[in-house]
Amino acid sequence: MNHIPPQVRLIDVGPRDGLQNEKQPVPAAVKIELVHRLQAAGLKEIEVTSYVSPKWVPQMADNHAVMQGIARQGGVRYSVLTPNLKGFEAALADRPDEIVVFGAASEAFSQKNINCSIAESIERFAPVVAAALAAGIAVRGAMSCTVGCPYEGDIAPERVAYLAGLMRGIGVQRVDVADTIGVGTPRKVQAALEATLKHFDIDHISGHFHDTYGQALSNTLAALELGVWNFQSSVAGLGGCPYAKGATGNVATEDVVYLLHGMGIETGIDLDALVDAGQFISDHLGRPSGSRVARALLTKRQG
Ligand code: HMG
Ligand code: MG
Repeated sequence: MNHIPPQVRLIDVGPRDGLQNEKQPVPAAVKIELVHRLQAAGLKEIEVTSYVSPKWVPQMADNHAVMQGIARQGGVRYSVLTPNLKGFEAALADRPDEIVVFGAASEAFSQKNINCSIAESIERFAPVVAAALAAGIAVRGAMSCTVGCPYEGDIAPERVAYLAGLMRGIGVQRVDVADTIGVGTPRKVQAALEATLKHFDIDHISGHFHDTYGQALSNTLAALELGVWNFQSSVAGLGGCPYAKGATGNVATEDVVYLLHGMGIETGIDLDALVDAGQFISDHLGRPSGSRVARALLTKRQG
């Protein structure tokens, strides 16, 4: 446990990863209010939306309205997904602080998610990365299926290292090691992180764990043990990827904050305010929060 970092940076991906799979349209005003509540709770990074085809992901079609509607807070980084130049050019008008290109360690998932091979995806991303850097916008690369793929099964760490190397080669500044379908367990997740460490240092790697099999907190601890201090999570545990059948939400931000604070690790996040943010969106969606911590704290409040 020597490497456990004293503080952690959480990127809440709820407005994007969390809501992208919702069948009923969530009004832009609700998404904006969610972002406002997250930043008020102390989140310093928020993944707001994506500039993808509205035919593929209708829920993100209001990207401009959401980005334009946010009252930005100093010191908060607002990131957005851009799969190609068309998406990047659309995003540019909304001045994101960071864009995210997203690829996969699995060929089959790359095809299903972004309709091209891994090699083609890197060709598409290269001009996006170059244009973003030239415009002074930071660049992150999301790497899906770094542990397992819904179509190919187990993914070898070498495949993760290969993708990380390609991302590095085109100028991506930091990467997310994603367990898209939440099948990972601690040692497998560590192997994916170690493969990524061949191309990115520890400060430029974040963990992105979906909680489908209930392993995400264990995997977070396993990543902390390696010294990883950036994590993505989703308020109220919202979410799922439309191209990963059965994949549930990201690990809930409330649950990660509770874990971290309990270990004496600073996050700068006010857990009570975060629980309120989660309750706001859960009320809107008409279902209980996916966060165990939020449910426990809400019950305690009533007591
Ligand atoms: P394509 O069909 O191969 O693209 O889709 P195309 O260039 O051939 O264009 C086809 C049509 O899409 C055209 O419109 C384009 O204008 C339009 P039409 O002429 O038919 O009317 N188009 C776009 N429209 C808006 N924005 C764009 C854009 N690009 C083309 N940027 C594409 C390729 C990537 C666009 C498509 O496959 C797509 O949108 N996929 C959605 C992928 C997605 O959003 N997945 C979920 C996010 S990733 C995720 O959740 C994983 C992550 O959380 C990590 C993890 O957990 O693993 C990050
Ligand atoms: Mg995801």
